[in-house]
Amino acid sequence: MYTLDLSGLTPQQFLDTYWQKKPTVIRQGFKGFQDPISADELAGLACEELVESRLVYKKAGEWQAEFGPFESYEHLGEREWSLVVQAVDHWLPQVAALAEPFNFIPNWRKDDLMMSFAASGGGVGPHIDLYDVFIIQGSGKRHWRVGDRGDHNEFAAHEALLHVDEFEPIIDVELTPGDILYIPPGFPHDGKALVASLSYSVGFRTNSGYELIEGLADYLAEHNQAKTLMIDAGRLVSNHPGAIGSQDLKQIKQHLLNAMSDDELFSRFAGEFLSQSKHDLDVAPMDEQGYSKEELMALLQQGVTLFRLDGLRCFYLESSMMSGSIYVDGSELKLPAGLQPIIQQMCDNRSLAADVVLPWIEYPEYISFLIEQINQGHWYFADA
Ligand code: SIN
Ligand code: CO
Repeated sequence: MYTLDLSGLTPQQFLDTYWQKKPTVIRQGFKGFQDPISADELAGLACEELVESRLVYKKAGEWQAEFGPFESYEHLGEREWSLVVQAVDHWLPQVAALAEPFNFIPNWRKDDLMMSFAASGGGVGPHIDLYDVFIIQGSGKRHWRVGDRGDHNEFAAHEALLHVDEFEPIIDVELTPGDILYIPPGFPHDGKALVASLSYSVGFRTNSGYELIEGLADYLAEHNQAKTLMIDAGRLVSNHPGAIGSQDLKQIKQHLLNAMSDDELFSRFAGEFLSQSKHDLDVAPMDEQGYSKEELMALLQQGVTLFRLDGLRCFYLESSMMSGSIYVDGSELKLPAGLQPIIQQMCDNRSLAADVVLPWIEYPEYISFLIEQINQGHWYFADA
């Protein structure tokens, strides 16, 4: 369990002062920081087929990027290369634990925990991200420069590397183990390892208008919704057959807005859309039979803890939680309204003690739901 110290600020003070506004260094945010995994373990993970990873280095002064899985790192030498691995939290619970202290920001805003190893002098080059990130320094030491938001010129240093022109730093620091650098979207930054170094980036996500509209359109098509055609009874004679009249344009826009103005439909879309994972999950579905109701009850009675698969996105909507809806990995599941307290517990917590779950297994709908979820590999008992 990691304890986060936001330089003495409360989480609310941190949000008010820095969140989305300006970058800051949180010295010793994690005191006595110990890496949850080693650089070798990270390198091993990047050899797995389902894990997204990149190598970034320079060859004859030119930036290079290669995508994993990798078989060997021997050609890279001792200096000036970097291995970046996405969603390490999905594969290793001990790494996922590092994102938990940031729970004062809700999970729907989180994306993944990316890790990087940089050999001395290594880094991914100066760039701008479109998301907020907390970069936690692990073992080693890294020099970070962060510039101000502004009109920065971005260019492709390599087809897979969007870099930014040289910038004037507003932060110029060396981070040592346990230090954290918070960077909101839009601030150019560049981190160079001073010695071989591990970093952990807790990254966030949000969506542009077009991504939301695209997601909504997919939802409407999939659920056969918003199929009503625009009606223009009461039309007046037009003298300009080539024109799309202002009144017509208004009506078309209104028709589009009507498709979005159904609050219930919008909530269901938001639940499904926001619970979709962008990265693979380490799901291990159970064999065909899975648990029986009796086996499940016996395990809970023995006091076995129930764990949620790390990286699984699972939410309820405050506005409709009394209805019993739960959104798991992009799907809406309907449970009876009375089950709302346990739904909330399952969405809010990475693990649940058996005595929290036990009272609810009297509800047949809950036990069927739980068995189904465990059989799919979304929740699991650690030692069972
Ligand atoms: C890295 O860890 O090498 C890159 C992190 C970042 O700049 O976003
Ligand atoms: Co970055």
